[in-house]
Amino acid sequence: MFENSLMQQIRDRFCHVDTCPFQGPRIFFENAGGGLTLKSVVEVNTELAGIPDNQGRDNPASHELVRIIAESRANMRTFLGVKDGPVFTGESGTELIFRMVRAAALGSPAGGNMIGSTLEHPATVSAGKRWSKIAGKEYRTAVHDNATATITADDYAKVVDADTRVATIIHTSPVTGMTVDIPAVVKTIRAASPECIIILDGIQHAAHGGLSVDDYDIDGYAVSAYKVFSRHNYGFAWLSPRLATLPHDHLDGTPDDFWEMGTRDTSAFACTTKVVEYFDWLGSHFTDSEDRRTRILAAGKAIGKQEHDLVELMINGNESQRGLRDMAEVYVIGGHDNPAREGMVSIIVEGKPCAEVVAALNAKGIRTHVRKADYFSGNILEPLGRPTCIRVSMCHYNTDQEVLSFLRELEAIVRAHAEVSAA
Ligand SMILES: Cc1ncc(COP(=O)(O)O)c(C=O)c1O
Repeated sequence: MFENSLMQQIRDRFCHVDTCPFQGPRIFFENAGGGLTLKSVVEVNTELAGIPDNQGRDNPASHELVRIIAESRANMRTFLGVKDGPVFTGESGTELIFRMVRAAALGSPAGGNMIGSTLEHPATVSAGKRWSKIAGKEYRTAVHDNATATITADDYAKVVDADTRVATIIHTSPVTGMTVDIPAVVKTIRAASPECIIILDGIQHAAHGGLSVDDYDIDGYAVSAYKVFSRHNYGFAWLSPRLATLPHDHLDGTPDDFWEMGTRDTSAFACTTKVVEYFDWLGSHFTDSEDRRTRILAAGKAIGKQEHDLVELMINGNESQRGLRDMAEVYVIGGHDNPAREGMVSIIVEGKPCAEVVAALNAKGIRTHVRKADYFSGNILEPLGRPTCIRVSMCHYNTDQEVLSFLRELEAIVRAHAEVSAA
Protein backbone atom coordinates (compact mmCIF):
# COMPACT_ATOMS: atom_id res chain seq x y z
CA MET A 1 0.00 0.00 0.00
CA PHE A 2 1.09 3.62 -0.48
CA GLU A 3 2.79 5.03 2.58
CA ASN A 4 0.64 7.39 4.63
CA SER A 5 2.04 10.74 3.64
CA LEU A 6 1.82 9.95 -0.09
CA MET A 7 -1.71 8.63 0.38
CA GLN A 8 -2.66 11.85 2.13
CA GLN A 9 -1.23 13.91 -0.72
CA ILE A 10 -3.08 11.76 -3.25
CA ARG A 11 -6.38 12.07 -1.43
CA ASP A 12 -5.92 15.82 -1.02
CA ARG A 13 -5.90 16.15 -4.78
CA PHE A 14 -9.44 14.80 -5.24
CA CYS A 15 -12.86 16.28 -4.53
CA HIS A 16 -15.24 14.55 -2.12
CA VAL A 17 -12.74 11.86 -1.26
CA ASP A 18 -14.45 10.82 1.96
CA THR A 19 -17.61 12.91 2.13
CA CYS A 20 -20.61 13.09 -0.16
CA PRO A 21 -22.12 16.61 -0.26
CA PHE A 22 -25.60 15.05 -0.25
CA GLN A 23 -25.06 12.27 2.26
CA GLY A 24 -22.17 13.12 4.56
CA PRO A 25 -19.17 10.89 5.35
CA ARG A 26 -18.89 8.02 2.90
CA ILE A 27 -16.44 5.55 1.42
CA PHE A 28 -16.39 5.64 -2.35
CA PHE A 29 -16.32 2.18 -3.92
CA GLU A 30 -18.22 3.19 -7.05
CA ASN A 31 -15.18 4.16 -9.09
CA ALA A 32 -16.22 2.06 -12.07
CA GLY A 33 -19.30 4.26 -12.34
CA GLY A 34 -17.01 7.28 -12.55
CA GLY A 35 -13.84 8.07 -10.62
CA LEU A 36 -13.41 10.93 -8.18
CA THR A 37 -12.68 14.26 -9.84
CA LEU A 38 -9.37 16.03 -9.43
CA LYS A 39 -9.58 19.44 -7.76
CA SER A 40 -7.27 20.78 -10.47
CA VAL A 41 -9.83 19.68 -13.07
CA VAL A 42 -12.62 21.57 -11.33
CA GLU A 43 -10.44 24.67 -11.02
CA VAL A 44 -9.34 24.85 -14.64
CA ASN A 45 -12.83 23.96 -15.84
CA THR A 46 -14.34 26.82 -13.83
CA GLU A 47 -11.69 29.24 -15.01
CA LEU A 48 -12.22 28.46 -18.68
CA ALA A 49 -16.01 28.38 -18.47
CA GLY A 50 -15.89 32.16 -18.07
CA ILE A 51 -13.80 32.87 -21.16
CA PRO A 52 -16.05 34.15 -23.96
CA ASP A 53 -13.52 33.92 -26.78
CA ASN A 54 -13.50 31.31 -29.50
CA GLN A 55 -10.59 29.45 -31.00
CA GLY A 56 -8.94 30.54 -34.26
CA ARG A 57 -9.08 34.32 -33.77
CA ASP A 58 -6.18 36.71 -33.74
CA ASN A 59 -6.36 37.90 -30.15
CA PRO A 60 -4.50 36.92 -26.97
CA ALA A 61 -7.39 34.92 -25.47
CA SER A 62 -7.94 32.91 -28.63
CA HIS A 63 -4.22 32.21 -28.95
CA GLU A 64 -4.23 30.88 -25.41
CA LEU A 65 -7.20 28.59 -26.10
CA VAL A 66 -5.43 27.19 -29.16
CA ARG A 67 -2.27 26.67 -27.11
CA ILE A 68 -4.21 24.82 -24.38
CA ILE A 69 -5.73 22.49 -26.98
CA ALA A 70 -2.40 21.76 -28.66
CA GLU A 71 -0.75 21.13 -25.28
CA SER A 72 -3.56 18.77 -24.31
CA ARG A 73 -3.31 16.79 -27.53
CA ALA A 74 0.40 16.28 -26.83
CA ASN A 75 -0.47 15.18 -23.30
CA MET A 76 -3.11 12.73 -24.54
CA ARG A 77 -0.52 11.18 -26.83
CA THR A 78 1.95 10.81 -23.97
CA PHE A 79 -0.72 9.35 -21.71
CA LEU A 80 -1.89 6.84 -24.32
CA GLY A 81 1.61 6.07 -25.60
CA VAL A 82 0.98 6.84 -29.29
CA LYS A 83 3.17 8.43 -31.94
CA ASP A 84 1.25 8.52 -35.23
CA GLY A 85 -2.45 9.02 -35.88
CA PRO A 86 -4.76 11.69 -34.44
CA VAL A 87 -6.27 12.05 -30.99
CA PHE A 88 -9.65 13.74 -30.81
CA THR A 89 -12.41 14.52 -28.35
CA GLY A 90 -16.10 13.65 -28.57
CA GLU A 91 -19.28 13.71 -26.56
CA SER A 92 -18.76 10.47 -24.57
CA GLY A 93 -16.99 7.13 -24.72
CA THR A 94 -20.06 5.60 -26.35
CA GLU A 95 -20.19 8.27 -29.03
CA LEU A 96 -16.50 7.88 -29.85
CA ILE A 97 -16.88 4.12 -30.15
CA PHE A 98 -19.93 4.36 -32.41
CA ARG A 99 -18.09 6.72 -34.74
CA MET A 100 -15.01 4.51 -34.95
CA VAL A 101 -17.04 1.34 -35.49
CA ARG A 102 -19.21 3.01 -38.12
CA ALA A 103 -16.20 4.22 -40.12
CA ALA A 104 -14.53 0.80 -39.84
CA ALA A 105 -17.67 -1.09 -40.88
CA LEU A 106 -18.44 1.11 -43.85
CA GLY A 107 -14.85 1.78 -44.89
CA SER A 108 -13.42 -1.75 -44.73
CA PRO A 109 -13.61 -4.02 -47.81
CA ALA A 110 -17.12 -5.20 -48.70
CA GLY A 111 -18.54 -8.40 -47.22
CA GLY A 112 -16.86 -10.48 -44.57
CA ASN A 113 -17.64 -10.35 -40.86
CA MET A 114 -17.22 -8.27 -37.74
CA ILE A 115 -16.57 -9.65 -34.27
CA GLY A 116 -17.21 -8.59 -30.72
CA SER A 117 -17.57 -10.47 -27.45
CA THR A 118 -19.97 -11.25 -24.62
CA LEU A 119 -17.63 -9.48 -22.20
CA GLU A 120 -18.15 -6.13 -23.89
CA HIS A 121 -20.14 -3.09 -22.83
CA PRO A 122 -23.15 -2.32 -25.07
CA ALA A 123 -21.23 0.61 -26.55
CA THR A 124 -19.14 -1.66 -28.78
CA VAL A 125 -21.74 -4.43 -29.11
CA SER A 126 -24.59 -2.12 -30.18
CA ALA A 127 -22.31 -0.27 -32.59
CA GLY A 128 -20.95 -3.53 -34.03
CA LYS A 129 -24.38 -5.07 -34.50
CA ARG A 130 -25.92 -1.98 -36.04
CA TRP A 131 -23.14 -1.08 -38.45
CA SER A 132 -22.32 -4.64 -39.49
CA LYS A 133 -25.93 -5.00 -40.61
CA ILE A 134 -25.88 -1.75 -42.55
CA ALA A 135 -22.49 -2.63 -44.06
CA GLY A 136 -23.70 -6.11 -45.08
CA LYS A 137 -21.29 -7.97 -42.83
CA GLU A 138 -22.04 -10.92 -40.55
CA TYR A 139 -21.74 -10.11 -36.83
CA ARG A 140 -20.05 -12.77 -34.71
CA THR A 141 -19.71 -12.98 -30.96
CA ALA A 142 -16.80 -14.47 -29.05
CA VAL A 143 -18.03 -15.96 -25.77
CA HIS A 144 -16.22 -15.23 -22.51
CA ASP A 145 -15.55 -17.79 -19.81
CA ASN A 146 -18.01 -17.74 -16.91
CA ALA A 147 -15.55 -19.11 -14.39
CA THR A 148 -12.78 -16.56 -14.99
CA ALA A 149 -15.17 -13.78 -16.04
CA THR A 150 -12.87 -12.71 -18.84
CA ILE A 151 -12.22 -13.48 -22.49
CA THR A 152 -9.11 -15.00 -24.02
CA ALA A 153 -7.35 -15.31 -27.37
CA ASP A 154 -8.76 -18.84 -27.64
CA ASP A 155 -12.29 -17.48 -27.34
CA TYR A 156 -11.61 -15.05 -30.19
CA ALA A 157 -9.93 -17.81 -32.23
CA LYS A 158 -13.30 -19.58 -32.42
CA VAL A 159 -14.93 -16.74 -34.36
CA VAL A 160 -12.17 -14.95 -36.27
CA ASP A 161 -11.25 -15.92 -39.82
CA ALA A 162 -9.59 -14.47 -42.91
CA ASP A 163 -12.77 -12.48 -43.69
CA THR A 164 -12.92 -10.67 -40.37
CA ARG A 165 -12.89 -6.98 -41.28
CA VAL A 166 -13.49 -5.34 -37.89
CA ALA A 167 -13.04 -6.53 -34.32
CA THR A 168 -13.85 -4.87 -31.02
CA ILE A 169 -12.23 -5.78 -27.72
CA ILE A 170 -12.94 -4.54 -24.22
CA HIS A 171 -9.79 -3.76 -22.26
CA THR A 172 -11.37 -4.23 -18.82
CA SER A 173 -14.93 -5.25 -17.97
CA PRO A 174 -16.93 -2.75 -15.90
CA VAL A 175 -19.04 -5.59 -14.52
CA THR A 176 -16.53 -8.28 -13.60
CA GLY A 177 -13.49 -6.00 -13.22
CA MET A 178 -11.38 -8.43 -15.24
CA THR A 179 -8.87 -7.22 -17.76
CA VAL A 180 -8.18 -8.87 -21.10
CA ASP A 181 -4.80 -10.01 -22.41
CA ILE A 182 -4.83 -7.56 -25.30
CA PRO A 183 -1.54 -8.56 -27.00
CA ALA A 184 -2.67 -12.21 -27.09
CA VAL A 185 -6.14 -11.44 -28.46
CA VAL A 186 -4.77 -9.03 -31.08
CA LYS A 187 -2.13 -11.55 -32.15
CA THR A 188 -4.83 -14.17 -32.69
CA ILE A 189 -6.99 -11.79 -34.71
CA ARG A 190 -4.08 -10.57 -36.81
CA ALA A 191 -2.88 -14.15 -37.47
CA ALA A 192 -6.23 -14.93 -39.09
CA SER A 193 -6.92 -11.52 -40.60
CA PRO A 194 -3.85 -9.27 -40.77
CA GLU A 195 -5.74 -6.22 -42.07
CA CYS A 196 -8.59 -6.39 -39.56
CA ILE A 197 -9.47 -3.01 -38.04
CA ILE A 198 -9.27 -3.50 -34.29
CA ILE A 199 -11.00 -1.10 -31.91
CA LEU A 200 -10.44 -1.20 -28.18
CA ASP A 201 -12.83 0.05 -25.52
CA GLY A 202 -10.38 1.37 -22.91
CA ILE A 203 -13.02 3.18 -20.88
CA GLN A 204 -12.92 0.99 -17.79
CA HIS A 205 -9.20 0.41 -17.98
CA ALA A 206 -7.83 3.95 -18.32
CA ALA A 207 -7.95 4.88 -14.63
CA HIS A 208 -5.65 1.96 -13.88
CA GLY A 209 -2.96 3.67 -15.97
CA GLY A 210 0.04 2.29 -17.80
CA LEU A 211 -1.53 2.56 -21.26
CA SER A 212 0.77 1.67 -24.15
CA VAL A 213 -1.55 1.86 -27.12
CA ASP A 214 1.19 1.76 -29.76
CA ASP A 215 2.24 -1.61 -28.38
CA TYR A 216 -1.24 -3.10 -28.82
CA ASP A 217 -1.10 -3.13 -32.64
CA ILE A 218 -4.64 -1.78 -32.92
CA ASP A 219 -6.54 0.95 -34.80
CA GLY A 220 -8.67 2.75 -32.27
CA TYR A 221 -8.75 3.33 -28.51
CA ALA A 222 -11.48 5.15 -26.57
CA VAL A 223 -11.28 6.77 -23.13
CA SER A 224 -14.12 8.41 -21.20
CA ALA A 225 -13.03 11.43 -19.17
CA TYR A 226 -15.25 10.99 -16.11
CA LYS A 227 -13.85 7.49 -15.60
CA VAL A 228 -10.36 8.85 -15.28
CA PHE A 229 -10.54 11.69 -12.77
CA SER A 230 -11.95 14.36 -15.06
CA ARG A 231 -15.55 15.45 -15.61
CA HIS A 232 -18.58 14.25 -17.54
CA ASN A 233 -19.56 15.17 -21.07
CA TYR A 234 -16.49 14.30 -23.08
CA GLY A 235 -14.11 11.52 -23.97
CA PHE A 236 -11.06 11.21 -26.15
CA ALA A 237 -9.86 8.64 -28.61
CA TRP A 238 -6.85 7.74 -30.70
CA LEU A 239 -7.01 6.48 -34.29
CA SER A 240 -4.42 4.70 -36.37
CA PRO A 241 -3.58 6.64 -39.55
CA ARG A 242 -5.49 4.10 -41.67
CA LEU A 243 -8.65 4.21 -39.55
CA ALA A 244 -8.39 7.99 -39.27
CA THR A 245 -8.44 8.42 -43.04
CA LEU A 246 -11.32 6.08 -43.81
CA PRO A 247 -14.36 8.05 -44.98
CA HIS A 248 -16.12 9.63 -41.99
CA ASP A 249 -18.27 12.63 -41.13
CA HIS A 250 -16.21 15.80 -41.16
CA LEU A 251 -16.35 19.29 -42.58
CA ASP A 252 -15.19 19.78 -46.14
CA GLY A 253 -11.83 21.49 -46.15
CA THR A 254 -10.59 19.89 -42.93
CA PRO A 255 -7.75 17.34 -43.19
CA ASP A 256 -8.65 13.74 -44.09
CA ASP A 257 -7.73 12.53 -40.62
CA PHE A 258 -9.72 15.22 -38.80
CA TRP A 259 -12.60 13.83 -36.71
CA GLU A 260 -13.73 16.67 -34.50
CA MET A 261 -17.03 18.27 -35.39
CA GLY A 262 -17.57 21.91 -34.60
CA THR A 263 -16.14 24.24 -32.01
CA ARG A 264 -14.16 22.51 -29.31
CA ASP A 265 -14.71 22.86 -25.58
CA THR A 266 -11.29 24.12 -24.55
CA SER A 267 -11.92 23.24 -20.93
CA ALA A 268 -12.22 19.54 -21.84
CA PHE A 269 -8.68 19.71 -23.19
CA ALA A 270 -7.44 21.67 -20.19
CA CYS A 271 -9.04 19.13 -17.84
CA THR A 272 -7.29 16.29 -19.66
CA THR A 273 -3.98 18.04 -19.21
CA LYS A 274 -4.68 18.15 -15.47
CA VAL A 275 -5.34 14.40 -15.48
CA VAL A 276 -2.09 13.71 -17.28
CA GLU A 277 -0.24 16.04 -14.92
CA TYR A 278 -1.69 14.06 -12.03
CA PHE A 279 -0.36 10.75 -13.40
CA ASP A 280 2.97 12.50 -14.01
CA TRP A 281 3.06 13.81 -10.43
CA LEU A 282 2.17 10.42 -8.97
CA GLY A 283 4.77 8.67 -11.09
CA SER A 284 7.46 11.11 -9.93
CA HIS A 285 7.28 9.39 -6.53
CA PHE A 286 8.38 6.12 -8.10
CA THR A 287 11.06 7.15 -10.60
CA ASP A 288 13.67 9.89 -10.90
CA SER A 289 13.21 10.04 -14.65
CA GLU A 290 12.96 13.42 -16.34
CA ASP A 291 10.73 11.88 -18.99
CA ARG A 292 6.98 12.38 -18.58
CA ARG A 293 6.03 9.13 -20.34
CA THR A 294 8.34 7.17 -18.03
CA ARG A 295 6.73 8.81 -15.01
CA ILE A 296 3.23 8.06 -16.32
CA LEU A 297 4.15 4.41 -16.74
CA ALA A 298 5.62 4.38 -13.23
CA ALA A 299 2.32 5.79 -11.95
CA GLY A 300 0.44 2.99 -13.71
CA LYS A 301 2.63 0.40 -12.07
CA ALA A 302 2.15 1.96 -8.64
CA ILE A 303 -1.61 2.20 -9.15
CA GLY A 304 -1.70 -1.46 -10.17
CA LYS A 305 0.18 -2.46 -7.04
CA GLN A 306 -2.03 -0.38 -4.74
CA GLU A 307 -5.22 -1.74 -6.28
CA HIS A 308 -3.87 -5.28 -6.12
CA ASP A 309 -3.16 -4.83 -2.41
CA LEU A 310 -6.65 -3.45 -1.79
CA VAL A 311 -8.22 -6.40 -3.62
CA GLU A 312 -6.06 -8.86 -1.67
CA LEU A 313 -7.19 -7.31 1.59
CA MET A 314 -10.82 -7.43 0.51
CA ILE A 315 -10.55 -11.08 -0.45
CA ASN A 316 -8.35 -12.32 2.39
CA GLY A 317 -9.01 -9.89 5.23
CA ASN A 318 -6.40 -9.64 7.99
CA GLU A 319 -5.82 -10.92 11.50
CA SER A 320 -8.76 -8.91 12.88
CA GLN A 321 -11.25 -8.97 10.02
CA ARG A 322 -12.52 -11.80 7.84
CA GLY A 323 -12.22 -11.30 4.11
CA LEU A 324 -14.66 -12.32 1.39
CA ARG A 325 -12.92 -15.68 1.06
CA ASP A 326 -14.03 -16.59 4.55
CA MET A 327 -17.61 -15.42 4.15
CA ALA A 328 -19.23 -18.57 2.85
CA GLU A 329 -22.44 -16.69 2.03
CA VAL A 330 -20.64 -14.35 -0.37
CA TYR A 331 -20.19 -15.48 -3.97
CA VAL A 332 -17.39 -13.68 -5.81
CA ILE A 333 -17.76 -13.45 -9.60
CA GLY A 334 -14.60 -14.73 -11.28
CA GLY A 335 -13.38 -16.46 -8.12
CA HIS A 336 -11.18 -15.37 -5.22
CA ASP A 337 -7.85 -15.77 -6.96
CA ASN A 338 -8.06 -14.19 -10.37
CA PRO A 339 -4.96 -12.46 -11.76
CA ALA A 340 -7.07 -10.58 -14.32
CA ARG A 341 -8.88 -8.56 -11.65
CA GLU A 342 -8.32 -4.78 -11.76
CA GLY A 343 -9.40 -3.09 -8.56
CA MET A 344 -12.95 -4.45 -8.60
CA VAL A 345 -14.80 -7.22 -6.85
CA SER A 346 -18.34 -8.14 -7.92
CA ILE A 347 -20.20 -10.14 -5.31
CA ILE A 348 -23.54 -11.68 -4.41
CA VAL A 349 -24.76 -12.36 -0.87
CA GLU A 350 -26.54 -15.66 -1.33
CA GLY A 351 -30.27 -15.40 -0.65
CA LYS A 352 -30.35 -11.63 -0.16
CA PRO A 353 -31.35 -9.25 -2.97
CA CYS A 354 -28.31 -7.26 -4.08
CA ALA A 355 -30.26 -3.99 -4.06
CA GLU A 356 -30.91 -4.50 -0.35
CA VAL A 357 -27.24 -5.10 0.36
CA VAL A 358 -26.26 -1.98 -1.60
CA ALA A 359 -28.89 0.04 0.30
CA ALA A 360 -27.70 -1.33 3.64
CA LEU A 361 -24.08 -0.48 2.80
CA ASN A 362 -25.15 2.95 1.64
CA ALA A 363 -26.93 3.53 4.94
CA LYS A 364 -23.56 2.92 6.55
CA GLY A 365 -21.88 5.42 4.23
CA ILE A 366 -20.36 2.89 1.83
CA ARG A 367 -21.10 3.54 -1.82
CA THR A 368 -21.29 0.46 -4.06
CA HIS A 369 -23.58 -0.29 -6.98
CA VAL A 370 -26.07 -2.96 -7.97
CA ARG A 371 -25.66 -4.32 -11.50
CA LYS A 372 -28.79 -5.85 -13.00
CA ALA A 373 -29.11 -8.37 -15.80
CA ASP A 374 -30.19 -5.56 -18.13
CA TYR A 375 -28.61 -4.38 -21.38
CA PHE A 376 -25.52 -3.22 -19.47
CA SER A 377 -24.77 -6.37 -17.48
CA GLY A 378 -27.06 -9.15 -18.71
CA ASN A 379 -24.21 -10.48 -20.86
CA ILE A 380 -22.31 -11.34 -17.67
CA LEU A 381 -25.11 -12.12 -15.24
CA GLU A 382 -27.47 -14.17 -17.41
CA PRO A 383 -24.93 -16.93 -18.18
CA LEU A 384 -24.27 -17.12 -14.44
CA GLY A 385 -28.01 -17.44 -13.79
CA ARG A 386 -27.86 -14.38 -11.53
CA PRO A 387 -30.36 -11.50 -11.76
CA THR A 388 -28.08 -8.99 -10.02
CA CYS A 389 -24.67 -8.50 -8.43
CA ILE A 390 -22.99 -5.92 -6.23
CA ARG A 391 -20.09 -4.08 -7.80
CA VAL A 392 -17.43 -2.92 -5.37
CA SER A 393 -14.98 -0.89 -7.42
CA MET A 394 -11.87 0.51 -5.85
CA CYS A 395 -9.26 2.95 -7.04
CA HIS A 396 -5.71 3.69 -5.95
CA TYR A 397 -6.87 6.51 -3.66
CA ASN A 398 -8.89 4.07 -1.56
CA THR A 399 -7.31 2.92 1.69
CA ASP A 400 -6.93 -0.30 3.62
CA GLN A 401 -9.08 1.23 6.38
CA GLU A 402 -11.89 1.77 3.88
CA VAL A 403 -11.67 -1.85 2.78
CA LEU A 404 -11.78 -3.04 6.37
CA SER A 405 -14.82 -0.85 7.10
CA PHE A 406 -16.55 -2.34 4.08
CA LEU A 407 -15.77 -5.89 5.21
CA ARG A 408 -17.02 -5.15 8.70
CA GLU A 409 -20.32 -3.76 7.46
CA LEU A 410 -20.78 -6.52 4.91
CA GLU A 411 -20.15 -9.14 7.55
CA ALA A 412 -22.79 -7.54 9.78
CA ILE A 413 -25.28 -7.56 6.88
CA VAL A 414 -24.52 -11.19 6.14
CA ARG A 415 -24.87 -12.16 9.79
CA ALA A 416 -28.18 -10.31 10.17
CA HIS A 417 -29.48 -12.00 7.04
CA ALA A 418 -28.46 -15.44 8.33
CA GLU A 419 -30.26 -14.76 11.61
CA VAL A 420 -33.46 -13.66 9.86
CA SER A 421 -33.31 -16.68 7.54
CA ALA A 422 -32.78 -19.06 10.46
CA ALA A 423 -35.68 -17.56 12.48
C1 LIG B 1 -16.22 -0.43 -20.67
C2 LIG B 1 -17.15 0.72 -20.92
N1 LIG B 1 -17.41 1.07 -22.19
C3 LIG B 1 -18.21 2.11 -22.48
C4 LIG B 1 -18.81 2.84 -21.49
C5 LIG B 1 -19.66 4.02 -21.84
O1 LIG B 1 -18.92 5.20 -21.62
P1 LIG B 1 -19.64 6.61 -21.65
O2 LIG B 1 -20.47 6.70 -20.43
O3 LIG B 1 -18.52 7.62 -21.67
O4 LIG B 1 -20.43 6.69 -22.89
C6 LIG B 1 -18.59 2.48 -20.15
C7 LIG B 1 -19.27 3.21 -19.08
O5 LIG B 1 -19.53 2.68 -18.03
C8 LIG B 1 -17.73 1.40 -19.86
O6 LIG B 1 -17.45 1.04 -18.61
